[in-house]
Amino acid sequence: MTDTTTSRIHNDEALESTLEELMKVERFEVPEGFRDQANITDPDVYAEANADPEAYWARRARELHWHTPFTTVLDESNPPFYKWFQDGELNVSYNCLDRHVEAGNGARVAYHWLGEEGEERAITYADLHRDVQLLANGLKDQGVQRGDVVGIFLPMIPQVAVAMLACARIGAPHNVVFGGFSPESVAERMEVSEARALITVDGARRKGKVAGIKSEVDRVMGHLASLKTIVVVNHAGVDCAMQEGRDVWYEDLLSSSAPDCPAEALPAEHPLYILYSSGSTAKPKGIQHTTGGYLTGVAATHRDVFDLKPESDVFWCSADVGWVTGHSYIVYGPLANGCTSVMYEGAPDYPHKGIWWEIIQRYGVTKFYTAPTAIRACMKWGVEYPNKYDLSSLRLLGTVGEPINPKAWLWYHAVVGGERCPIVDTWWQTETGHIMISPLAGLVATKPGSATRALPGISAALVDQDGNEITEGTGILVLTRPWPGMLRTLYGDDDRYVSTYFERFGPKTYVVGDAARRDSDGYFWIIGRTDDVINVSGHRLSTAEVESAIVAHEKVAEAAVVPEPDELTGQAIVAFVTLNGTLQGDDVVAEEIRTHVSVRIGKLARPKSIIWADDLPKTRSGKIMRRLLRDMAEGRELGDVTTLRDPDVVEDLRQKTQARKKS
Ligand code: PRX
Repeated sequence: MTDTTTSRIHNDEALESTLEELMKVERFEVPEGFRDQANITDPDVYAEANADPEAYWARRARELHWHTPFTTVLDESNPPFYKWFQDGELNVSYNCLDRHVEAGNGARVAYHWLGEEGEERAITYADLHRDVQLLANGLKDQGVQRGDVVGIFLPMIPQVAVAMLACARIGAPHNVVFGGFSPESVAERMEVSEARALITVDGARRKGKVAGIKSEVDRVMGHLASLKTIVVVNHAGVDCAMQEGRDVWYEDLLSSSAPDCPAEALPAEHPLYILYSSGSTAKPKGIQHTTGGYLTGVAATHRDVFDLKPESDVFWCSADVGWVTGHSYIVYGPLANGCTSVMYEGAPDYPHKGIWWEIIQRYGVTKFYTAPTAIRACMKWGVEYPNKYDLSSLRLLGTVGEPINPKAWLWYHAVVGGERCPIVDTWWQTETGHIMISPLAGLVATKPGSATRALPGISAALVDQDGNEITEGTGILVLTRPWPGMLRTLYGDDDRYVSTYFERFGPKTYVVGDAARRDSDGYFWIIGRTDDVINVSGHRLSTAEVESAIVAHEKVAEAAVVPEPDELTGQAIVAFVTLNGTLQGDDVVAEEIRTHVSVRIGKLARPKSIIWADDLPKTRSGKIMRRLLRDMAEGRELGDVTTLRDPDVVEDLRQKTQARKKS
């Protein structure tokens, strides 16, 4: 192991003084060495794209391979149901695989995969191309047809990319569920999307332990009539029962399938996938993305934002493939651009807290993309871990998922980036499909905590409550023009699509759900969600979904869930809980409730704090006043409480909340 040659930070003292010095810098100019090699350095890109966004996106779409070229770009005759490149036909898996193999790049590594126990595999484009065709044929043999939804519930193993691409090849929209969700959540998502097949695994490994997955899937999925096939990857060596006629081993399916499966020419608007995300109600939203527009957006943004050099870059997005970040920047963007990525199965602190930096050194990672929460965790563990490794291969760093606090930004910049790598703070959402607001690293000076400006061809603005534009100050973030990668609808629920995003300011203004500030340079500073969504470690959770899981516990009468600021996870979940009858809350019941939430939703939704409430603050009509609870959790002054049915309830809870903070 070498000492890093690029950082001047060798201990905590040096770190503190460097951070103190950097805190004074308001604006980080593009490093000269970076600008010299950057793909985009002409400031006119913005003006040119924005003068004719359709022409711009058409040009970007033509960077892909089209089986049938499109002649129309944007159909906006029925807003907000926009269509892009409608009469064109293409195939996502063809664009991600065949075209690279045909260009002679089959031997290029698509993924350096590292398993939790140190196993390594280099998977080339030719390997992926072979396996994807085999699995696509296998799925067809199982009766999966174009338009059938296929669920995918897999850990971070190469088969997850194979599964997604095999679906894309035959036009079967996939519905990937993050491996950290509970089997109950998977079952719910399979049920509402009427999944025809599910691709899962015998067991998953996490920090040295193995958990059975297939057995859990069997427990909760048996009643689903639509589910005709379960494909099981043999990964963790866990025994599992296979149901005759329904279950098939992934490996057997591949070995018995025909090798050639030509990519189907699919209409540009054919759905590529559904990805469930949390909204303001307990029912998750099935965000639906398409083939042509989505791939255009992810390929273009991956290339531009990460200043991609497909021949030489080693790109690592540390997200899980089960989130949109993984869909767009582990699978579709990098593969469409033919670059080499890293895929890591394990946790950032297993087998040791330096594993991420070891991976960067081992594979010579050049572009690294992660979440502020992860950066804060690494900060807490200390500089000694990154300092043990040579991080000099890094050229650019990225963040996503939540606002990054300036101290974490500066730590990332100084300790990981050796003060020479630009940081791209990328703002986007599951719904937007790809990055929307972010610096172009060769062109835009950065400010710690700001995602800077909208990308070329993207139109973002701030408005007040009446929809008037705010050029400087704080307001509601909106997107004022359709973009190719935007969601097309919520699966099976066009009405909810319209009411969630386009009701407030009409069908041409997409309401993001975030508040933001704009400074005198026009830079955006994202403040956070304006709806009932909590962002824990960059993961979106609906307060209503967590509440409904808590009240389903037999001892609970009522619950209200709000966020509170958390140093590590950005926000944490606080649950105010009223128990049934005379039951008293204690640590044992609190743990029962947490476990219960884990089972219903997943570990990530467990409340960090539970506050026992004899009653909850309600209006006279009986509505819970979450705003007051939120103010309490965030330590703010409480406003007028006289409209409450029982104002004394508030005082009791306020004291309990404060007592908890002190303890
Ligand atoms: O509140 C914003 C926050 O994450 C939300 C989107 O969450 P999700 O759909 O799960 O997608 C996360 C990964 C793309 C946004 O509405 N968010 C995302 N990126 C940033 C951010 N907040 C601040 N800065 C960001 N860079």
